[in-house]
Amino acid sequence: MNPKTFLPSLIAVLLACGMLSTLWIAGKLEPANSKETPSTAAEEPAAPEELAAAPGVGKAPKVTTEGKDDLAHGKEVYKKANCAGCHKWHGGGGGSYGGAALSLRETILNQEQIVEVIACGRPGTGMPAFHRQAYKGYDCFGMTWDELGEDKPPKPPKRLRIPDIESVAAYIVEKIKGKGDMTKAQCVDFWGEGARECGRFE
Ligand code: HEC
Repeated sequence: MNPKTFLPSLIAVLLACGMLSTLWIAGKLEPANSKETPSTAAEEPAAPEELAAAPGVGKAPKVTTEGKDDLAHGKEVYKKANCAGCHKWHGGGGGSYGGAALSLRETILNQEQIVEVIACGRPGTGMPAFHRQAYKGYDCFGMTWDELGEDKPPKPPKRLRIPDIESVAAYIVEKIKGKGDMTKAQCVDFWGEGARECGRFE
């Protein structure tokens, strides 16, 4: 071939190859692209009463059993289940519509016992049973719901699942139990920077 025409024809051949392969790739990809993504209608129905499906949460929160994430989740549970409504944000307790809630700061219960009290409530007091099946399949002090008679614990502000109960119990043990007088740092940790609730520490 004449060197003067060789280069242009080589370029022409390369260009043609490029175009062909582009067409080939486009042809290959098209069917995959045009496939409909499966509809989301088959998603599991949400259980509105469970904390996991609380408004604004959408998806079930990821529950881990250890570490900082779990404490953050425990704090969320403490807020969402309105533990603070009776025990106050600091866990110090005191008078409220639920009677005098004991101080979680001064509690002598261990984590396991705290889980039991949250799940089962405390019969004959204002402490609600947060587990849906408490006394009804979930063992609570070996008693049945009927045996509780007049001592049935009140309905909880929100039902909790065991992983959530374990998270909030861990949160109490780590952040509230034995912490003495509340501090501004603890207040900010609970409510966030600049919260009005913490103004009184100024
Ligand atoms: C309606 C009010 C109310 C709510 C809401 C409530 N509690 Fe209580 N709680 C009480 C009362 C009252 C007691 C004290 C029971 C007694 O006198 O033995 C108590 C006791 C406890 C105890 C036992 C403390 C001890 O040292 O014996 C723990 C632990 C506890 N609550 C945790 C929680 C957690 C966690 C939540 C939220 C998931 C919560 N409570 C929500 C009223 C409430």
